[in-house]
Amino acid sequence: MKVSVIGGSGYIGLVTGIGLATHGNDVICVDIDQKKINDLNRDILPIYEDGLSALLAKAKRKNRITFTTSFKSAVNQSDIVFIAVGTPSGRSGETDMSHVYKALSSVASAMNKPKTIVIKSTVPVGSNQVAYQIVRENLTQPHLDFDIVSNPEFLREGRAVKDFMEPERIVIGSKSSSAIKRLKRLYKTFDAPYVITDPTSAEMIKYACNAYLATRLSFINEISEICEQVDANVLNVIEGMKHDSRIGGHYLNPGPGFGGPCLNKDIQSLIHFGSCADANVNLLRAVLSRNNVQIENILKFINELLKKSKVSRVQKVAVLGLSFKAGTNDTRNSPALLLLDLLKNLDVQIAVYDPVVQSLPPDIHSNIHSNLKFAKTPYDAVENASACIVMTEWDEFKELDLQSVFNLMRYPAIVDTRNVLSSEHAMALGFEYKGVGINGLKPIEEQEILKHIV
Ligand code: UDX
Repeated sequence: MKVSVIGGSGYIGLVTGIGLATHGNDVICVDIDQKKINDLNRDILPIYEDGLSALLAKAKRKNRITFTTSFKSAVNQSDIVFIAVGTPSGRSGETDMSHVYKALSSVASAMNKPKTIVIKSTVPVGSNQVAYQIVRENLTQPHLDFDIVSNPEFLREGRAVKDFMEPERIVIGSKSSSAIKRLKRLYKTFDAPYVITDPTSAEMIKYACNAYLATRLSFINEISEICEQVDANVLNVIEGMKHDSRIGGHYLNPGPGFGGPCLNKDIQSLIHFGSCADANVNLLRAVLSRNNVQIENILKFINELLKKSKVSRVQKVAVLGLSFKAGTNDTRNSPALLLLDLLKNLDVQIAVYDPVVQSLPPDIHSNIHSNLKFAKTPYDAVENASACIVMTEWDEFKELDLQSVFNLMRYPAIVDTRNVLSSEHAMALGFEYKGVGINGLKPIEEQEILKHIV
């Protein structure tokens, strides 16, 4: 089928465009960002996503995909137009719909024949109806027929290609049976159950999913704090929970708090439109506030460590991992950046290392710390440090040679916010170790401390 994707150089748009092209459709990805379009025409991807560049190369070889800034011709050539533009947070947590509205009115004025317009962007409940009005009012040929379909995405960064190519369900929200039929034809080569529903429920499904996942994370993070207070080990607790088929083990790893571009934003939006609709959203508010506590707890602990390490000169803290999770170079809303921001209030030098993130966004960098340096390896980062904070669960950190880390550090203390290291091994080597929900602290002999304080 002939498809165009508006916002086609963005995360969701690009994966959607390349994925649909891989499934044999003729796709035009449209974006106003000329540089990204130029790059994509030269096979340079604006995002790092496993498997995406191979699929792009294949789709290009088969002439299934093109990239352009030329809105009108792309829309004219397509039967189905995807809207996949960004929906950032507004000041009060509401979704900023300006890009979606602009895209819709541009599609309407470019339309030359009936179209199915599919909203992929995550939009507040009720947007499908608003979208209909916007298109209706902006049609240059007012008699043209069109449908608006809500078709939310559930792509995880780092696994977006797999999530797109092997979806667990395809949600189609529309009142039009012909539009539903068209979408089913588009997705006919995918092996996934359909959830066919009204547009409002389709929009709500996306928010409910992300809110549920975030609730699970805040829940386990809170359980972790209780574990620390009562001296239980949260990993053992999770082991005992996950065999319960009503609970399962997914999405239950405690950490420094959930980050990334979606969970926070979507919950804030849900809180906003939920409370505007007079719903009680106390649980969702608690989920967010619990999430903020995580990073503060970690900072509290670092503070204690630095006091304890008794080093009089300016101390060095090593931060391992900057992306909001492993498998992506995305640092949006990353707990590691929040931590760096908090560390700026302490008089410490910071060495950061991440296997894929080699610099910080300039606005954040200037804000964060003049004493911040990028290290070339995790071992460079920990050299002479008084605390090593693991912020992202990269495999490289799971495989660290802890003996070398121990030898390099001035004060051997690890704060493992992802519980990726073996607490037993670390403590056997003489580290002071702290995970999330795992105390694992070992009082270090004075001799050991002296050995490390040069
Ligand atoms: C999320 C949703 O999963 C996806 O369906 C939606 O379309 C977009 O938002 P993403 O933001 O890519 O995807 O990341 P996800 O894997 O869900 O992780 C979100 C955050 O939770 C990350 O900071 C991650 O580190 C954290 N997390 C996840 C944990 O702390 N523990 C876990 O067990 C899982």
